[in-house]
Parts: sequence; structure tokens; C-alpha cells
Amino acid sequence: MNPETVTVADKTFKMMISAETISTRIKVLGEQINQDFADQKPVLIGILNGCFLFMADLVKEINIPCEIAFMKVSSYHGGMESKRVITEDYDLKMDVSGRNLIVVEDIVDTGNTMRFISDKLAARNPASVNVAALLYKPDAMEQDLELKYVAFEIENKFVVGYGLDYKGLGRNLNEIYQVVL
Ligand code: IMP
Repeated sequence: MNPETVTVADKTFKMMISAETISTRIKVLGEQINQDFADQKPVLIGILNGCFLFMADLVKEINIPCEIAFMKVSSYHGGMESKRVITEDYDLKMDVSGRNLIVVEDIVDTGNTMRFISDKLAARNPASVNVAALLYKPDAMEQDLELKYVAFEIENKFVVGYGLDYKGLGRNLNEIYQVVL
């Protein structure tokens, strides 16, 4: 039995999306990607750190040939406020020209991070750039971005678990929890 509430650092969070619901939804996204990218050998680009569990579970549902790569950017720096300044910590090490790219991100909040990443990738002449986001907060979105695969649309409240952190903690929770204010 998983707890209904958890304490992460100095805040309380309540259960929002169960591990089972996450898993069921990721299977559906995987099937869609299998259909949409059959014979295209897409490159899945995980955005660290938050993507690590989502990326692992998503690629397990993908049964077409694909490659895996990672980038690392920082925008939150551990707190609950999104930063306007995005820092690039680790760039892609592969040539992506002519390739179909699927950016795998834990959450699209203001969309500023995804804009930064999409623009950076688009400048390298890929065949296409698509986005797979575990979570999307439509009410926080500030960018005009197409999000092709979204597992869950959520309200504009801070969440932790399943790869997402608060002050560096909570990434190891199997479920997604929402802050209790
Ligand atoms: P954006 O640039 O505002 O879209 O923020 C994207 C990044 O901020 C994500 O990749 C997360 O690392 C982080 N982030 C945004 N919302 C949350 C949240 O509710 N919990 C934990 N991290 C978040």
C-alpha cells in the first residue's frame, strides 16, 4: 500500500497519479510512437535529470529500432519557482541531422525549457522534432509549442515523484504527488 501523503524536505504532498495509472498511460504512448515512427529509427532524447524513470519505462514499450541519447539542462534549481534562465549542463554528443527526434521530458510547465531545447535541436537540421512529456501544465504554458505525446495534463500545482524532485528529493517515489499548500 502506498502512502496517501508524503513529506519531501519541508513540504507535504498528496498522491495524485498512481504507479499503475502511469504505467498504463506510458504503454499507450509507446504504442503510438511504434506506429508513428515505424521504419524511421527515431532518436529519443531524454532531458536529465527528471526524465530518467519516464524515459526508461517509455523505451521499454518501444519495439521499433530506435536510438537513445541525453541532454541535461537546469531551470528550476531545486525549488518550486521556474527560472527564466536556462543553463545547459550537458549537450548531445551525436549528429542528429536528418533524424527524427523525440524529446523526452518529465514536465512542461512554462515551456521555456522545451522552447530552448527545441530551438537548439532544430538548428541541427533534424528531419523532425517531436515532444513526449510525462506531465503538462497547460495553465502555466508561456510558449507556442506542439506537444505530440503527453501522458497527463495536470493543474498548475507543484508535483514530485517518478523522477521529479523538490529540493533534490522525491525523485525515487513510484507515484506522482501534488503539493498541499
Ligand atoms: P519549464 O521551463 O517551466 O517548462 O520547466 C521545465 C522544468 O522545470 C522541468 O523539466 C522540471 O525539471 C521543472 N519543473 C517544472 N514544474 C515542476 C514541478 O511541478 N515539479 C518538479 N519540477 C518541475
